[in-house]
Amino acid sequence: MTALDTERATADAAATGAAVKRGYVKQMFSDIAPHYDRVNRIISFRLDQWWRRKAIRELNIERDPAATYLDLCAGTMDISSQIGAGKGFKGSVVAADFAEPMLRAGLEKVSPDVVRPVTADALDLPFADGFAAGAIVVFGIRNVVDLNGALREVYRVLRPGARFVILEFGATQNPMVGWIYRLYFNHLCPLIGNAVARHHSAYNYLPKSVAHFPTEADLAQRMRDAGFDSVHWRSYTFGVVAIHVGEKKRVGDRVSVAGPASPHSR
Ligand SMILES: C[S@@+](CC[C@H](N)C(=O)[O-])C[C@H]1O[C@@H](n2cnc3c(N)ncnc32)[C@H](O)[C@@H]1O
Repeated sequence: MTALDTERATADAAATGAAVKRGYVKQMFSDIAPHYDRVNRIISFRLDQWWRRKAIRELNIERDPAATYLDLCAGTMDISSQIGAGKGFKGSVVAADFAEPMLRAGLEKVSPDVVRPVTADALDLPFADGFAAGAIVVFGIRNVVDLNGALREVYRVLRPGARFVILEFGATQNPMVGWIYRLYFNHLCPLIGNAVARHHSAYNYLPKSVAHFPTEADLAQRMRDAGFDSVHWRSYTFGVVAIHVGEKKRVGDRVSVAGPASPHSR
């Protein structure tokens, strides 16, 4: 077995969720950090930033523009910088990621007065219960070794009634996209991505990790199981991506459903 074979085998194992996943993912993103944004724009035909804007809209920041929001698995902080630059935003963003080189690669995009990068693991966040008015994770949660654990940890750090938004690749079965998309995503993306990122396996891991990620309905159920209410999702671009939204239960939710109309009833 050559070194390349070994690396690709590790990437394949990581994509299935094997024990090597955490180490592989952390090292791989640290390695590709300087090239990450460029590859995203190229392989998504710049749709990635449009998807991000859609996801941020779901956070409902205008409900509390002066509050603190969590950008989990923040990477190079595209989401944090978009939230921070949002019209009327007066709050702050905590950008958490366990691969420090990713956060460093995005430092130029963000104002230190608004965005606070924090090196942290999604499974053990160094934040108090209920500290965030909303949380968002974009193309990140698929990479966390324990999905249910990450959902529970996000739930813990949200304040009651706060929203959690997930943007991830979908399990598209759309005949409009079909085999052309699969050819592109499974074969061309790895070639282009690895070449631009100067990496041997990062963009082989990408489609394989998507294939092993729960379907949209499964992910919604996992969010419910973690405690989230009002869980729903919507697919974009022929199902290439999906945005899931859930809310942390409000204190006294049951009472407000049965009782007189309250400002929080839906
Ligand atoms: C595909 S990138 C997404 C970056 C960014 N959210 C975006 O919109 O492009 C995935 C990020 O998740 C981070 N990540 C994966 N597992 C993590 C974990 N357990 N804790 C914290 N960050 C994690 C990686 O380091 C990487 O920066």
